[in-house]
Amino acid sequence: MQFKKCKHCNAVINVMNENSLKNCDLTCCNEKMEPIIPNSEECAVEKHLPTYQIKNDKLIVQVNHVMEEEHFISFIGLVTEDKEFIASLNKKDSPIVEFPYEKGSIIYAYCNKHGLWKTKVS
Ligand SMILES: [Fe+2]
Repeated sequence: MQFKKCKHCNAVINVMNENSLKNCDLTCCNEKMEPIIPNSEECAVEKHLPTYQIKNDKLIVQVNHVMEEEHFISFIGLVTEDKEFIASLNKKDSPIVEFPYEKGSIIYAYCNKHGLWKTKVS
């Protein structure tokens, strides 16, 4: 899973087949979109790293983060060996989602102010 962002309008896209993009650039607002590098260690006052619980072969993912008008988690994603899942959130949602459990998968969470965060499922 690779995400790119426009530094002008803050649009974020998920590149579903990144291997096909080796020699082409995606543009937005007439400029090349830049890859978003996920953080994997907390460094802000707010909590961003997704946490999870495993219940009956389901992965219950939560981000302990505010959901306010100007500051919120806009999506939570999961990448397994062969599948990708994205849950888009709006400001009225709780940042809690359910995905299928698969050991070794990667959970992503995106904060509109503090960027992309990831946690590996063990
Ligand atoms: Fe944040």
